Amino acid sequence: MLKAMAATEPHIVDWPAYFAATIEKPLHPTYALLEPHLPTTVRVLELGCGVGHGVLYFVSRGFQVVAVDQSKEALEIVRSCLPAGASVEFVQSGFEDLDLAPLGTFDVIVAEFSLFFLPPPAFRAFWARMMADLKPGGLFMGQLLGVNDEWAPRGYTVLTRAGVEQLLAPFETLHLEEVDLDGETSQRVPKHWHIFHFIARKRP
Ligand SMILES: C[S@@+](CC[C@H](N)C(=O)[O-])C[C@H]1O[C@@H](n2cnc3c(N)ncnc32)[C@H](O)[C@@H]1O
Repeated sequence: MLKAMAATEPHIVDWPAYFAATIEKPLHPTYALLEPHLPTTVRVLELGCGVGHGVLYFVSRGFQVVAVDQSKEALEIVRSCLPAGASVEFVQSGFEDLDLAPLGTFDVIVAEFSLFFLPPPAFRAFWARMMADLKPGGLFMGQLLGVNDEWAPRGYTVLTRAGVEQLLAPFETLHLEEVDLDGETSQRVPKHWHIFHFIARKRP
C-alpha cells in the first residue's frame, strides 16, 4: 500500500516553506506505478509541479514536459534543477485561469497532490477542461481528497469513494487506492489523511 505521503501545510498554505520541506524528498511512489503504462514518446503535463520531482523524472526519460504551477518560486526551483537540453515549457498560472488550448493535447497528465486545493465549482470546471486536453488513450495520474481528510473543512474539493468512482467512470481505471489513516504532512505536522491515488486511461 502506498503511504499517505506528505503533501502540504495548511490552508494558509505557506508554499515557500512547503517547497523548502519537499526539495529533498524522493519521487512519490505513484510514478513507479505509472511507469509500466508509459508509451515511448510522451508529452506530459505536470499540474502543480511544486519543486519538480515529477518534471525531473519525465525529463530523465527524454519526454517533453509542460510544467504548470501558480508559484513563480516553484517554477524557478525546477528551472534551476534541469539538465542541459531538457524540453520543459513553464506556465505560471492558477488552474482556474489556465488555457492550454494553444499547447495542444497531452499523452500524460499528472496532478500530484494539487487539484484538490481548488474549491468544488472550480475543480469541476477545471476537470472538464483538462479532460479535453488529454489525448484519447492518454494517462492521467494524481490524487483526490476524501471526505474524512482533516482538511475537508477548508473548502478544498473532497469526495466519497462513490464520488471518485463516478469522476473516473469515463476512464479505464488502472490503479485506485484509498488511504484513510493518521500520518503527517511534509513539514512533520500530524494529520489525518484520506487520499485516493489513481492512475487512469482515457478511453479511445
Ligand atoms: C502539495 S504541492 C504538490 C507539488 C508536487 N506535485 C508534488 O507532489 O510534490 C501543490 C502544488 O500545487 C500548486 N497549486 C496549488 N493550488 C494551485 C492552483 N490553484 N493553481 C496552480 N497551482 C496550484 C502549489 O503551488 C504547489 O506547488
